[in-house]
Amino acid sequence: MSKVIYPGSFDPVTNGHLDIIDRASKVFEHLIVAVLENPRKQASFSLEERVDMLNSIVFPYTNVEVDCFRGLLIEYAQKRGANIIIKGLRAVSDFEFEFQMALANRKLNCNIETMFMMTNNMYSFISSSIVKEVASFGGDIRDMVPPQVYSKVMDKVGASRY
Ligand code: COA
Repeated sequence: MSKVIYPGSFDPVTNGHLDIIDRASKVFEHLIVAVLENPRKQASFSLEERVDMLNSIVFPYTNVEVDCFRGLLIEYAQKRGANIIIKGLRAVSDFEFEFQMALANRKLNCNIETMFMMTNNMYSFISSSIVKEVASFGGDIRDMVPPQVYSKVMDKVGASRY
């Protein structure tokens, strides 16, 4: 059975992430969406908020679970018995960094493969930071995040708060 990890900060989860989750859930038997608790990245949403937002959008997928981890991704993957890490590639600019990460992870454990999915071109410009920036200046983010996430982002960083 292929057990796959889709890691990220998900601060917050966007439609781009959801597109990868949706497509990966159709290809693999069991998908773990793993939220990184990263002490070096100042998150806007707490770990619990990020996990809750993800749970609110993945509940229709019976083969998808949400979890969190800290430390090395490869160690977490080993602990969960996963043999594949899935990442989304949005543009050529993602490639160099992702290539480096994939090679480093393979060096750490050559039994865990990193696989890439091309992001849907509708979402190739989106990142969590872009969503928060647009919202903070009063822009419309309704097409960028799932409806359940929209109000959470607006409450947290929306222009009306300032
Ligand atoms: N759609 C929309 N946005 C996407 C996306 C997609 N398909 N794929 C990525 N993004 C966005 C993310 O939202 C993120 O935005 P942000 O920088 O504004 O938060 C940005 O693109 C970068 O994404 P990514 O490179 O996946 O970074 P991340 O912070 O979400 O996740 C980890 C990084 C968790 C995968 C990585 O840091 C990790 O594995 N850390 C653990 C430590 C470790 O093992 N390090 C490696 C040692 S070699």
